Amino acid sequence: MNLPTRKLGTTGPHVSALGLGCMGMSALYGDADRAESIATIHAALDAGVTLLDTGDFYAMGHNEMLIGEALRSAPAAAREKALTSVKFGALRDPDGGWSGYDGRPAAVRNFAAYSLQRLGVDHIDVYRIARIDPDVPIEETVGAIAELVEKGHVRHIGLSEVGADTIRRAAATAPISDLQIEYSLISRGIEDEILPTTRELGIGITAYGVLSRGLISGHFSRDRQLAANDFRGMSPRFQGENLQHNLDLVEQLRKIAEQKGVSVAQIAIAWVLSRGAEHEDIVPLVGARRRDRLTEALGALDVTLDAADLAAIEEAVPADAAAGERYPAAQMAHLDSER
Ligand SMILES: NC(=O)c1ccc[n+]([C@@H]2O[C@H](COP(=O)([O-])OP(=O)(O)OC[C@H]3O[C@@H](n4cnc5c(N)ncnc54)[C@H](OP(=O)(O)O)[C@@H]3O)[C@@H](O)[C@H]2O)c1
Repeated sequence: MNLPTRKLGTTGPHVSALGLGCMGMSALYGDADRAESIATIHAALDAGVTLLDTGDFYAMGHNEMLIGEALRSAPAAAREKALTSVKFGALRDPDGGWSGYDGRPAAVRNFAAYSLQRLGVDHIDVYRIARIDPDVPIEETVGAIAELVEKGHVRHIGLSEVGADTIRRAAATAPISDLQIEYSLISRGIEDEILPTTRELGIGITAYGVLSRGLISGHFSRDRQLAANDFRGMSPRFQGENLQHNLDLVEQLRKIAEQKGVSVAQIAIAWVLSRGAEHEDIVPLVGARRRDRLTEALGALDVTLDAADLAAIEEAVPADAAAGERYPAAQMAHLDSER
């Protein structure tokens, strides 16, 4: 099948208007079902999704190997259309701990060599450091990826969670296809400075957390038991009074969704799509890890929000309506985009 497509920036690839974020199939949202994860990737490719996002540090290579297995077992036509977007740089330990970021050129080449093997591909379509390494100028990290582009191991260079100054420095070093960054009804931090900068420089946005990690999907409830390894158990937005406040916002959104005969998740995804409609520059990465969630997410592409809908949504969930930061304090400190 064919989905509408978007070109990522002036120099990037054409991708489906919705991408599939595969992180939750391996890490951070508790246990996932391997067979269902692979079936979800196959269903996404079959539906016309061409962009698969991952990170080499999502369960220390597990997520890349999962995608590699899904690509190997997909029909050749779907496999040929699939594009991989890979983040690197996060340092892990055998207990699953996190110990900073490494953006040195030699590390970039090393990370890429392993990713190519785990994914079972001869090139990575978009390669980016997940968080900048404070000890390595962005020019050096991006320059190292540019060398991988020259050698054919990588096709395009992306960025992740960086602010306007870093975007400008990176773009002055090499062509940048897209910035991957959190953007949703309740995470609108990019609107003031970052989005105008990417638009000025001809850089696309691949938006993650469009459902705020399930919080504004309409499927999350207060009594949901989270596994010990679930990010949401530590996320400020999922705690106590913050959670109640944020779920109250979702109930306001639900009224609008019901009136339109669509789901809350579809409204939330369609809202992000609407923010990129004029410039055709925002591609939501949905974190579906089951086929039913994927079907729901893809349904957002058929939802049209008119001016009255957008006004009602704005009233239900105004900018800055969320309670709680989007990451715990220690992780906020790594976000160049929040400086
Ligand atoms: N660059 C970065 O710093 C960064 C950071 C985080 C993620 N990412 C990338 O962005 C991708 C998306 O992020 P995310 O997973 O946090 O985003 P998300 O789409 O906001 O959240 C995904 C979660 O929402 C729940 N959900 C409920 N209904 C859904 C539906 N219809 N479709 C999809 N999910 C639904 C699911 O949780 P349950 O399955 O528990 O119900 C799912 O795990 C990730 O997979 C990753 O590739 C990038």
